[in-house]
Amino acid sequence: MFSKSLLFIALLIYQTKCELKIFDPKSCELGTLVKEIESYDGVVKKILDYTVSGPFKGKTYDELAKFVDKFGARPSGTDVLEKSIDYMIELTKKEGLNDVITEEVKVPLWERGEEKITMLEPREKDIALLGLGKSATTPPEGLTGEVVVVRNFEELEGISEDKIKGKIVLYVPVFTAYGETVTYRSQGASKASAKGAIASLVRSITPYSLYTPHTGSQTYADGVVPIPTAAITLEDADLITRMYDKGEKVVLNIKMSSKLDENKISRNTLIDLKGSEYPEKLVIVSGHIDSWDVGQGAMDDGGGMFVSWAAPVILKRLHLTPKRTVRAIFWTAEELGLIGAYAYEKAHRNESDNINFIMESDEGTFAPLGLAVSGTQKARCIIAEILKLFKSINASTLVEENSPGSDIAIFTGNGIPGASLHNDNGKYFWFHHTEADTMNVENPDELDLGAAFWTAVAYIIADLSIDIPR
Ligand SMILES: *[C@@H]1O[C@H](CO)[C@@H](O)[C@H](O)[C@H]1NC(C)=O
Ligand SMILES: *[C@@H]1O[C@H](CO)[C@@H](O)[C@H](O)[C@H]1NC(C)=O
Ligand SMILES: [Zn+2]
Repeated sequence: MFSKSLLFIALLIYQTKCELKIFDPKSCELGTLVKEIESYDGVVKKILDYTVSGPFKGKTYDELAKFVDKFGARPSGTDVLEKSIDYMIELTKKEGLNDVITEEVKVPLWERGEEKITMLEPREKDIALLGLGKSATTPPEGLTGEVVVVRNFEELEGISEDKIKGKIVLYVPVFTAYGETVTYRSQGASKASAKGAIASLVRSITPYSLYTPHTGSQTYADGVVPIPTAAITLEDADLITRMYDKGEKVVLNIKMSSKLDENKISRNTLIDLKGSEYPEKLVIVSGHIDSWDVGQGAMDDGGGMFVSWAAPVILKRLHLTPKRTVRAIFWTAEELGLIGAYAYEKAHRNESDNINFIMESDEGTFAPLGLAVSGTQKARCIIAEILKLFKSINASTLVEENSPGSDIAIFTGNGIPGASLHNDNGKYFWFHHTEADTMNVENPDELDLGAAFWTAVAYIIADLSIDIPR
């Protein structure tokens, strides 16, 4: 999951500060649509049986494990990402799904080199780090400077420039919610640089740590000097903060190298299960295929991609052909700025009226709880009614979100109704963007439930007698 683009940050801060807003369907008046939706109960049972206890049981996990173990990390711009895309095309065609196409996208390749931080004062200590995406490099001997610790941007604003100039700014925000805290990662370097800092560090964006740094994207604002920037562990950030608060002088040497090539080519992958009556109309299920260079991208976003892969596969195997087309999309280069999704939106803008509903899973594939839905009241009423069919697996909750997901926020921002997977992901940010994003985070039974839920929801929306209203 990428830190959302600036456009969405204000909205996101507002949302993530609040408790989840659970939709209340009391004022919904759907008339005969209620009966129509209820009639899908048998289809839901069929899909659940097939996926959770029938021939597909364990399949989503097994295929995800094969994929992740074979390719490992799949950063934007690398050959391994392209090979993993080819592999997914083959895997899909083996299921008899032949409407598979790819669309080229220009993407960056940012290759991490040597990274090392040494605390020189008040005592010598190695500090674990991960450079942030597209970070500038240091000279080979590194940069040495004194640390200034700030808890938030207001604190930075309150310090005069002469006290920041030539120093290293360390942000130590307390993790509240990802959307709120991540701004210190995504904008920290720019704001520190604007005040004359030579580098910036951020306490990793996570509520919990076993001495693990978390990388992620950041962008340099126009006109600022791009200074090297990295995340360090909660443990080291808190250690440095305690030293600093006692009035001790903390001096670090930071060495970071990397290479950036902005002109690589990657591909979005589109898999269609063609609709029987309105093939031009789309219900999209999606996840991103790229990952950070650390970890294996099993959770972020291998799981999300594989439940989306499962949807057309399970429908095909069960000979369930909805009226509209179910399209699975594997976005490319999400982590460096939703690049694949922006390219798709642009290339298909003339057909955007045909997107009936767009779904994305990019915040974990733990036990499904329901959907986080954006759209009109009427749209939410319909989805809430559909979710009632998932009481047996405890996935009936509709969370109101104005900007769900990451890639799909581009589409829902244009008024297209959509949803992200609401799941039991309390531990998601423990692993996010770290070496610990491996298959060990994934659970076969939860993936089965997620795949079944995703498939059945997509099927019903694609088959209803009416479009989801805008
Ligand atoms: C949209 O544009 C593409 C590319 O020019 C074209 O192939 C497609 O037919 C157009 N679709 C519609 C609905 O006009
Ligand atoms: C749903 O919740 C009930 C009650 O807490 C529990 O017994 C059941 O196992 C849950 N079902 C699933 C599929 O998690
Ligand atoms: Zn992701």
